[in-house]
Amino acid sequence: MPCVVIVGTQFGDEGKGKIVDFYAKDADLVVRYQGGTNAGHTVVVGDDTFKFHLIPSGVIQGKKAIIGNGVVIDLEVLNKEIENLKSKGKDIDLLISDRAHLTLPFHKTLDGMEESLKGKSKVGTTKRGIGPTYTDKANRIGLRMVDLRHIYVLRKKLDFIVPFKQKILKKVFNSNVTISKKETLDYCLNLGDKVKGYIGDASVEINNTIKQGKNILFEGAQGTLLDVDHGTYPYVTSSSPTVGGALTGSGIGPKHIDTIVGISKGYTTRVGGGPLPTEMNDEIGDKIREKGKEFGTTTGRPRRCGWFDAVILRYAVRVNSLDGLAITKLDVLGGLDKVKICTSYRYKVRVVKEFPADLELLEKCQPVYEEMDGWGDLSEEKWREIAKDGYYSLPKELRNYLKRIEKLAGVPIYVISLGPGRESTICLKEIF
Ligand code: GDP
Ligand code: IMO
Ligand code: MG
Repeated sequence: MPCVVIVGTQFGDEGKGKIVDFYAKDADLVVRYQGGTNAGHTVVVGDDTFKFHLIPSGVIQGKKAIIGNGVVIDLEVLNKEIENLKSKGKDIDLLISDRAHLTLPFHKTLDGMEESLKGKSKVGTTKRGIGPTYTDKANRIGLRMVDLRHIYVLRKKLDFIVPFKQKILKKVFNSNVTISKKETLDYCLNLGDKVKGYIGDASVEINNTIKQGKNILFEGAQGTLLDVDHGTYPYVTSSSPTVGGALTGSGIGPKHIDTIVGISKGYTTRVGGGPLPTEMNDEIGDKIREKGKEFGTTTGRPRRCGWFDAVILRYAVRVNSLDGLAITKLDVLGGLDKVKICTSYRYKVRVVKEFPADLELLEKCQPVYEEMDGWGDLSEEKWREIAKDGYYSLPKELRNYLKRIEKLAGVPIYVISLGPGRESTICLKEIF
């Protein structure tokens, strides 16, 4: 029963798309289990770059794809993604859970308005309607994919939801924006019609695939520190990117999961508000942002950059029961004289080893760093050659850096990524 879950260990954008694509070569099925169009997963294959928001990155390898019940679906983006793949000549074998919830246009409007109302305390969301969609799901007033099958169900639900939301817009936000029942219904019917053929019971399909002994890859979105329970609340997303989300978001039980792989950048980035303990507000941070092209895949916002944080990694190992790691973007750190790893935090005279829930405390913590020798700034071509020649052709200083990360994490490194493309990858352990 080879089921493997891939999770982000940091604040998202760790390179999950690249690693999912890499491991998907041996998968039979790839499943997205949470999040929505806030995700932006990049896969680079030769001269082609694919950016996925909803469809699992494994489709590039020609694998069957499932969007699980835990995902929230923006029909406009979904249709664009399908069309885009078709236009690039990619066949798509896609199943979308009938239980997945819909992000409707008013969810996006509300996301923006809630952020404005929060003022200084805003989360810095992607404004893709994620929070409002999951709020409606928990409040039991959301629309699900299955509802697209019945016009009378859609009508009945919208009869309640539209006036309900209209009241909130008017009375809470003092807004003149109007939501039209007809337009919302037409939106669901027109865009829903195009994807109707993909809707089905994803849990049945995944469990049948497990019974057949096939290989399944679960693709997390966002990252551990953005998890609504385990992240830096309230500066989090509204879903569960951690491993538990793979179960609730796809309809399988925990006994089926064999391997859990955490993806980390060789440094840390965060987009949006909230704490980033190892943030570099200096020239090195700017250099990493430019060299690593650290600008959001979904929103284009500059990502804040920081040194590698082993407190965060250990936390991710614990809450996800990680078996192994993929460390990405190590090429980006090339050319620095010294590199730093944060091994713990210091609060006054106290050493803080476990990532705290208390953001007041976290804000007052100072990272405790270990400094190590850096490695050279090599060309893309050179990194590809190194990747081809394998682990022992890596610069000695980089091997030392990786060994230290492994030691601090307490779990082995499975994949080393030295560039955006497939060929800039060293795989130390196959997962299927
Ligand atoms: P995801 O959300 O975790 O899938 O990550 P994103 O796709 O949002 O951001 C990762 C970015 O880094 C993408 O542009 C990738 O193409 C790129 N990338 C992934 N791995 C590497 C790597 O090892 N080196 C470099 N230079 N870029 C990488
Ligand atoms: P991938 O899957 C990085 C961040 C937003 C904001 C917070 C809440 O590409 O790693 P939301 O729109 O979810 O309500 O925003 O979460 N965020 C991400 N940051 N990568 C992502 O996805 C993200 N999805 C959401 O910037 O701080
Ligand atoms: Mg991303």
